Amino acid sequence: MGRLVIVSNRVGSSLKGNEGGLATAMLAAFDQQEVVWLGWSGEITDGPPGPTRVHREGRLTRMLVDLERADYEGYYLEFANSVLWPVFHYRVNLAEYGRERWATYGRVNEMFAERLVPALAPDDILWVHDYHMIPLGAALQRLRVDNPIGFFLHIPFPAPEVLATLPVHEALVRALFAYDLVGFQTEKDLQAFRDYVEREAGGWIGGDGTVHAYGTSVRAGSFPISIDPRLVADRAARAASTRRAARLRESLSDQRLVIGVDRLDYTKGLVHRFDAVERLLETNPQYRRAIVVLQIAPPSREDVLEYQRIRAELDARIGRINGRFGEPDHLPVRYVNRSFRQETLFGFYRASRVALVTPLRDGMNLVAKEFIASQDPDNPGVLVLSRFAGAARELDTALIVNPFDVDQIADALDRALAMPVEERRDRYGAMMAQLEEHNVHAWRDAFLDALQHKGSVFGASAPIAAE
Ligand code: ADP
Ligand code: F6P
Repeated sequence: MGRLVIVSNRVGSSLKGNEGGLATAMLAAFDQQEVVWLGWSGEITDGPPGPTRVHREGRLTRMLVDLERADYEGYYLEFANSVLWPVFHYRVNLAEYGRERWATYGRVNEMFAERLVPALAPDDILWVHDYHMIPLGAALQRLRVDNPIGFFLHIPFPAPEVLATLPVHEALVRALFAYDLVGFQTEKDLQAFRDYVEREAGGWIGGDGTVHAYGTSVRAGSFPISIDPRLVADRAARAASTRRAARLRESLSDQRLVIGVDRLDYTKGLVHRFDAVERLLETNPQYRRAIVVLQIAPPSREDVLEYQRIRAELDARIGRINGRFGEPDHLPVRYVNRSFRQETLFGFYRASRVALVTPLRDGMNLVAKEFIASQDPDNPGVLVLSRFAGAARELDTALIVNPFDVDQIADALDRALAMPVEERRDRYGAMMAQLEEHNVHAWRDAFLDALQHKGSVFGASAPIAAE
């Protein structure tokens, strides 16, 4: 096999935390392999951006491209994060479409394609990631690239009637047909794509799963992304004996820790979650001094107004709970807006009795998987998980909740806190076995094998049949 060339907007760095699921998963998936990774450097320039910067670090070669301010705004802030992100997460009322934005999005994708082409060798295999880069395959085709190109969508693919609210839905879906293989997180996302093709594009699904429309075809499958659970478990066990983890445990005395770790994003269900915490403390006074909720929420995409709003709303909600139920020597919620090293986070997960992972919509949610893998097998914590996180299909022995139902989250939290150790072990054991089998390396291999026609598009790593 030739080199593997990855393209995504965000390029992972082992030095920073809080880069989201894409960067975390890719760094874990390609820890032992020679890869080239092209994407945005994170830098914004006032004039035209300089040449692509190439950095080699062990087996990983990063090719980093700066974005000119107008492109950062039109492509990243506006089209990717104020149009595609809300629509694909079912928040159509938050989408602010504009033709200019769509044009800039297309143009920046052309620019990434132009940066990539001179670096390509004939036998390279290309793997493009996520919603920022949907038109990249078509742009590469126009530049006469004929290497195999796969695309993986890390976020949900919405139901056709939701996607159809986007004025350029047809052009966007048509762009997916430039790839050799399109991968989705879950069977539900794959089904939504097929439904769109059948209902909106007048296409059809072949017997081998190939999707036909627009006078062409594309192979499409579901490939649930994952983590390296053994590595996470080892790091969590190590982190548990560090000074930082000990300080956290000491600060709790005999109180039980409930943890939430999310980018500060309106899709993560944070306001509903804290309404549930408030409800629990209101209706179950026995918990008032018995639990501490630690919410780690590093700010994200702060130049987008909706992200400023959600931050202000969450600040107010948490302030209200602490004002209402706090004591001079006890605050029910500890709220931290910063990143931590992964290992430190895993140590925090291991010190927690419960994790609240309650997104309103999420492609997968790796925090849920990391929480499970970080637990002490003899005394594991309990995961309360949204049914609308992709991870709920695999982690089905978590306490599954509707994240819009505040009472149900409060009840699940109560149940989790009271759960006997035998039941906690059974639930944890089932989820850990699932994670070990369908780990991030299996995800990578299933996708790349399918891309090279060695595996089935019916998702070697997709463990659960379509509903
Ligand atoms: P998303 O991709 O939407 O951010 P995921 O849950 O799939 O959501 O992935 C988030 C990733 O970022 C996880 O690997 C998680 O450990 C990491 N992460 C989240 N918050 C922090 C933080 N405060 N510090 C470091 N890493 C974080
Ligand atoms: O996993 C979803 C995702 O949107 C990635 O594409 C993205 O890199 C990550 O979350 C974090 O967002 P951002 O790159 O905008 O900081």
